Amino acid sequence: MAAEVGVGMVGLGTVGRAVARRLVQRWELLGERAGATPVLRRVAVGDLTRPRDVELPQVRLDSNPEELVDDPRVGLVVEVMGGVDRASALMDRALRARKPVVTANKAAMAVHGLELAALATEHGVSLRYEAAAGAGIPAVAVLRDSLRGDLVSSLEMIINGTTNIILSRMERKGDGLEDALAEAQRRGVAEADPSADIDGHDAAAKLVLLSRLAFDAAFATEDVDTVGIRGVEPADIACAARLGGSVKLVAQATRTRSSVVLTVRPTLVLAGHPLHGVDDADNAVVISSDLAGPVLLRGLGGGGDSTASAVVSDIVATVRAPTEPPPLPRLRPAAADAGALDRGAYIRVRLRDVDEAARLVVQALEDRGLPVLASQALAAGAGDAAQLAVVTAPVAGEMLERALETLDSLAVVAAVVTSMDCVGVA
Ligand SMILES: NC(=O)c1ccc[n+]([C@@H]2O[C@H](COP(=O)([O-])OP(=O)(O)OC[C@H]3O[C@@H](n4cnc5c(N)ncnc54)[C@H](OP(=O)(O)O)[C@@H]3O)[C@@H](O)[C@H]2O)c1
Repeated sequence: MAAEVGVGMVGLGTVGRAVARRLVQRWELLGERAGATPVLRRVAVGDLTRPRDVELPQVRLDSNPEELVDDPRVGLVVEVMGGVDRASALMDRALRARKPVVTANKAAMAVHGLELAALATEHGVSLRYEAAAGAGIPAVAVLRDSLRGDLVSSLEMIINGTTNIILSRMERKGDGLEDALAEAQRRGVAEADPSADIDGHDAAAKLVLLSRLAFDAAFATEDVDTVGIRGVEPADIACAARLGGSVKLVAQATRTRSSVVLTVRPTLVLAGHPLHGVDDADNAVVISSDLAGPVLLRGLGGGGDSTASAVVSDIVATVRAPTEPPPLPRLRPAAADAGALDRGAYIRVRLRDVDEAARLVVQALEDRGLPVLASQALAAGAGDAAQLAVVTAPVAGEMLERALETLDSLAVVAAVVTSMDCVGVA
């Protein structure tokens, strides 16, 4: 590469501004590290009239991303605009013009990442996306470069900042989901339309990106059994605390004998598990592999600066190796059945006003092969029936389903209110 590499960036929002600042203010250091200086030459935005709190002298700012990609002064395209179709089309255009691409876009990479990686390989240019899964947490680099001799057995992660902030607030303040969400929206940490976060789709997209690298298989978001946090009630948060844990939205990929099971679900994380205590804006990824054992990566999963850390690092790596192709998964994923997996369970039931109801529930679970490791009774309040929350030893999902059906039909149980995965059981 020449002593300078022209960078064109699409997007100058939360991430783009932080990336621009670093490129403009630290060009010398970045040039030394990259072997040639990445020079921000052009930026495209949606609304040119919007005020920007970043000084960009000698940078052409307009609202024509296609022209930016085609500009011969641009040798490297950074996509920090977001969205799926337009962003993917721009990356496609850049790669076909043999311009390497850096992106932070998990949604586009989850849907079109495999085609884009194939295109990058075909045209002999690199495509990097560290910021798309875990922002400043270098999970992509660890899976892509550091553990290449290992067989990964599982990924466990708290990878969505918005839901983690909401669940942490519910735990600390006793708020319901609606109130905690409204507060997060007031503080600007949740979108006006929060469904991608709350319903687990953002976490599923990130799980897919990391699982492709970890298991070398071409997963899609449809392969993820995804449940968001809309059903999490304050009573579950309170029971979790009394049982020594917290409710988190946990994304998991687990290798079984014949497949990999991908799930995103509200999960009781017990004390002692590496994800316990990962609160508020923190994210964490636990990678377990045969040689390295468990590796914990933890840090800020979002925000302008932490995401820019990953984007700029990818820019430096791209300047160093612009023709290095991205990893392309070799395997087609086998059909995965979450029901075959052994997992601990948290179950909360509302009891009828009958003597020894709690004992009879525990007995029923144990009779059906679910050892109860801990239980927590909630006394009846004004107008409220007594409740019981239990944690069971890991059991196959199918066995759990049958036990829940049994509980539903027990005379002492008014209703099975909640059932969720539990990690960290001894
Ligand atoms: N924010 C985070 O913490 C974070 C973390 C990890 C990954 N990411 C990913 O990074 C990407 C950017 O996120 P962000 O938070 O920076 O978003 P953002 O603040 O909404 O910024 C988006 C930028 O793209 C520009 N844009 C939108 N449509 C455009 C168009 N048609 N042509 C040109 N520019 C257009 C916007 O222009 P205007 O400024 O004129 O509106 C804005 O500058 C997303 O893919 C996101 O998933 C974000």
